[in-house]
Amino acid sequence: MSTGRETRRLEDLRSHQWYGTDGLRSFSHRARTRQLGYLPEEHLGKPVIAILNTWSDINPCHVHLRDRAQAVKRGVWQAGGFPLEFPVSTLSETFQKPTPMLYRNLLALETEELLRSYPVDGAVLMGGCDKSTPALLMGAASVDLPAVFVPAGPMLPGHWRDEILGSGTDMWKYWDDRRAGLIGDCEMTELESGLARSPGHCMTMGTASTLTAAAEALGVTVPGASSIPAVDSGHDRMAAAAGLRIVDLVHRDRKLSDILTEDAFADAVTTVLGLGGSTNAVIHLIAMAGRAGVTLTLDDFDRIARTVPVLANVRPGGRTYLMEDFHFAGGLPGFLSRITDLLHLDRPTVSYDTLREQLATARVHNDDVIRPRDNPVATEGGVAVLRGNLCPDGAVIKHIAAEPRLLKHTGPAVVFDDYRTMQRTIDDPSLGITADSVLVLRGSGPKGGPGMPEYGMLPIPDHLLKQGVRDMVRISDARMSGTSYGACVLHVAPESHVGGPLALVRTGDTITLDVEARSLRLDVDDEELARRRALWTAPPERYERGYGALYNEQITQADTGCDFAFLARPGKVPDPYAG
Ligand code: FES
Ligand code: MG
Repeated sequence: MSTGRETRRLEDLRSHQWYGTDGLRSFSHRARTRQLGYLPEEHLGKPVIAILNTWSDINPCHVHLRDRAQAVKRGVWQAGGFPLEFPVSTLSETFQKPTPMLYRNLLALETEELLRSYPVDGAVLMGGCDKSTPALLMGAASVDLPAVFVPAGPMLPGHWRDEILGSGTDMWKYWDDRRAGLIGDCEMTELESGLARSPGHCMTMGTASTLTAAAEALGVTVPGASSIPAVDSGHDRMAAAAGLRIVDLVHRDRKLSDILTEDAFADAVTTVLGLGGSTNAVIHLIAMAGRAGVTLTLDDFDRIARTVPVLANVRPGGRTYLMEDFHFAGGLPGFLSRITDLLHLDRPTVSYDTLREQLATARVHNDDVIRPRDNPVATEGGVAVLRGNLCPDGAVIKHIAAEPRLLKHTGPAVVFDDYRTMQRTIDDPSLGITADSVLVLRGSGPKGGPGMPEYGMLPIPDHLLKQGVRDMVRISDARMSGTSYGACVLHVAPESHVGGPLALVRTGDTITLDVEARSLRLDVDDEELARRRALWTAPPERYERGYGALYNEQITQADTGCDFAFLARPGKVPDPYAG
């Protein structure tokens, strides 16, 4: 670990402008800090570390973070910093409707403006439930202070009778079993208590585990942080270590921009693909890279995917294990040690001058959980990027989580204009849906959803479930939960709400999916499509006022990360004291 401190002069600390100058404002800030109960020697001349905490009573994935912030503070104090905790909004994947994706950019904006407007020299960012990781890092990258991310950590594995359950993944599975009449209400009541046994984020390789792993691969967590179970004592120690680290980073002026480089994002893409991670990572990493001034495209994902085998045997991409198994098998350092030839080892992290040093002692302790290169879970990365007349700006599919027979498939479309209609009618036998049908859902993109909800794993109609059908080709402009599975084509861009070709599909049209050729085609000729386009009228906007109206106005499409245009564009925003 780096110890060489090129200690900055006190006057160079950002907080010095608030506290250290000879003027009325500094006098006032010092007086108000006395009001907070602090002695001058507790804070004057010390780096101010903001702890941005997404804890909330409504967020089971972050409910332990209120306590965990104390461990971060411990580390900051030990290292000679002055910690201040800032509560920021919580994005609960379970409870926030229509989807926390609608609010990812709001938390990013809040993060950016809090860090900018208060006397902050460095930040510790605490989150983990799906969108909170990208949101915090997007905001912090825009301010470009030194920052360390503290991942919330996965919850303990679920248990029901003698079965081990994965949150999300097994929820869908048992819900389907109930719909198919295989289990009843008693079993469901027991499952309610068994699916999620402790604080922490989903313990499958869902969006949360994928994004916290991406943060670790980027180099913004302490080594090995992302897989530590939320309730393990090691999680406290990791939080304290983050507190120690951030003070050193401030002294050495190592900012996020030193760490969030093009090479770092390439390695994060390699990581999420090699983990068989969530498709949501595609959108979030593109948005995060944008904030760091790095251009990352869908094609980068597809190109890198062809070079990376999936080595993490963690559900739902892998077949067997959960995050706790992954942790004890070596965690992300162990996993990265298996793919060092695919990584950029000379880049810095928050802990080391090079990733090479950071991985020097990393080992894998269980070859079935983190597979060796000659025995991968899949020979190619977990996400394929599709092109074609149905998705001119791209679409994605997590093909390793689909039934292989569907990866090349032609079938008649059954189209649903929106989610509610789909929910109401999907089981109606008069729709004539067969196992070969291609289910199409539109009106579920960034603007149409709104917020691009996780509707992409459309349910299999009851009568087909009862026949044993468990996967079908499904296409939408929605996202899919990282814990979902199936032959679901997602993120179709442009979305139907803004007139993308998905808006023109009609029930009965033939659609061809060919994952190997990376193609998604609507088998309708251009003339007919032009005729349909002339008849198409744009649906009304979803919001007339408020945050939703701002969202409507500013949201970009999935292929560019769904950031707000005014936040994504480059340009400096001055420090409050700089004018
Ligand atoms: Fe929070 Fe899954 S609900 S990570
Ligand atoms: Mg999720």
